[in-house]
Amino acid sequence: MEVIIQKDEHAAAYLTAQVIASALRKKPHLVLGLATGRTMALVYPVLVDLYKNHGLDFSLCRTFNLDEYVGIPSDGKNSYRSYMKKNLFNKVNIDIRNTHVPHGMAEDLEEECNRYDNLTQECGGIDLQLLGIGRAGHIGFNEPLSALKSRTRVKALTPETMEQNRPLFDNPDEMPRRAITMGVGTILESKRCLMLVTGFKKAEILKKAVEGPITSMVTASALQLHPHCTVICDEEAAELLDGKNHYRWIFENEPEWAQYRNSAK
Ligand code: GLP
Repeated sequence: MEVIIQKDEHAAAYLTAQVIASALRKKPHLVLGLATGRTMALVYPVLVDLYKNHGLDFSLCRTFNLDEYVGIPSDGKNSYRSYMKKNLFNKVNIDIRNTHVPHGMAEDLEEECNRYDNLTQECGGIDLQLLGIGRAGHIGFNEPLSALKSRTRVKALTPETMEQNRPLFDNPDEMPRRAITMGVGTILESKRCLMLVTGFKKAEILKKAVEGPITSMVTASALQLHPHCTVICDEEAAELLDGKNHYRWIFENEPEWAQYRNSAK
């Protein structure tokens, strides 16, 4: 795992989008894993700008979202499919048939989860998986105690997660209690993981995920097992990290990051 610290949330989101754009330019048929939430809302406008003004081409790209609420129709205002349409799919030249989000209204949810896992495999697996982190330490909706080898399945949300996401619903009573989520095991099979973490509210959980023990109580800590995982964070989220100086050194000196240093915001 490597940790890259940027000065604020805008710089962190900008760098995240640049890493995605670089992967897409290298491999036009990229299988891209996508995430939702407030943190990611700063990444998608950068990708849209790269498409509109810098020739970034999504036409051959295939996407798989991490998760979707159970019980909300795909075209419902608060579905993650709607979030993706609003923030990315409707604004770039992606073929909507190449975009995949689990169906939270599927009659047979177990079958839907298996279908989703199989489809990912049929596409050759995920090349680059974008991730955020919930305050309970979750990636996707892999709440505490999710098995580190879990596959796509339905998970009950914790009260903390419901509390965190409820403000995004006009009617708080509509906040679902369950979601379909890729499993921790599924996420770990991606060829590369890219986790974006911003804001002081995430400082404590980021420290646990990156520098704490690997535990199903903080499913993001499982990313320590991944052979190619990059965490991009801002100064506020990095506040409690012991290894800050070392992480800064990596960004300043490692050749891999040279192409991004000059354009960093
Ligand atoms: C949500 C999503 C995650 C997201 C996380 C953080 O519940 N399931 O994919 O990364 O929580 O969300 P936010 O960026 O709004 O803090």
